[in-house]
Amino acid sequence: MHPKRQTSVDIRGRKGGEKIVVLTAYTAPVARLLDPHVDLLLVGDSLGMVVYGMPDTLGVTLDMMIAHSRAVVNASSQAMVLVDMPFGSYQESPEQAFRSCARVMAETGAGAVKLEGGVEMAPAIRFLAERGIPVMGHVGLTPQHVNVFGGFRAQGREPEAKERILKNALAIQEAGAFAVVLESMPETLGRDITHRLAIPTIGIGASPACDGQVLVVDDMLGLTENPPAFVKQFAHVGKQIEQAASAYAKEVKSGTFPTTKHCLAGPTPLQAPRKKC
Ligand code: KIV
Repeated sequence: MHPKRQTSVDIRGRKGGEKIVVLTAYTAPVARLLDPHVDLLLVGDSLGMVVYGMPDTLGVTLDMMIAHSRAVVNASSQAMVLVDMPFGSYQESPEQAFRSCARVMAETGAGAVKLEGGVEMAPAIRFLAERGIPVMGHVGLTPQHVNVFGGFRAQGREPEAKERILKNALAIQEAGAFAVVLESMPETLGRDITHRLAIPTIGIGASPACDGQVLVVDDMLGLTENPPAFVKQFAHVGKQIEQAASAYAKEVKSGTFPTTKHCLAGPTPLQAPRKKC
């Protein structure tokens, strides 16, 4: 029997307890491998950059998120699947956010959604949470604001920016979010917010004090070329892929691969065509 999938209520209950483990996943084979080891599989809109080679996340569509989220849900059974809402699918109004999130929940079977923003998104978060959609917030470096930030820069270095990020996190909690991502900010701010909030914080380039941590899976596997400075590579899969591709190319060219071992054994050798008399 499959273990029960984790829910937003389980995650909310982990505040101050065992650390919450989160990785992104975009495809079925990777989701299957990660599922036993993580609490949450985040189908991040980072897939625009990681999977599709886009320069940022702004070109990701709702249809793309739904297709990848279905794959991740189908291939997992234990972790909660959390879906990032893409740029333009929720910022207009609480009603627009509900329509987009309802599609995600109904068409993917995911357990929750994540959206970026603070005080300005609080009415939408409340609208969603009151209508049955668990929401995770995301403050600090919010990649969908890349053009306003002037690049993928750490946030919250100046005292006013610190204050603003804390206010955003509190507004999200007040609106009913079950957890919040803190991305790329000074360690002391990540720690402070974690201590001020009653909901779990999930850090990425934030603080070890956060209630959980998330990384982009391709970054921690060593598949991306220039990962952010806060990433630790737990493997060097990119190098292994290069070595495997090079070994394969050599063997194909030299005729070492395939051998008859790698070919189908037929029950009987093919009959040579009969000669016409
Ligand atoms: O899109 C994403 O992968 C994310 C994480 C980096 C938190 O939002």
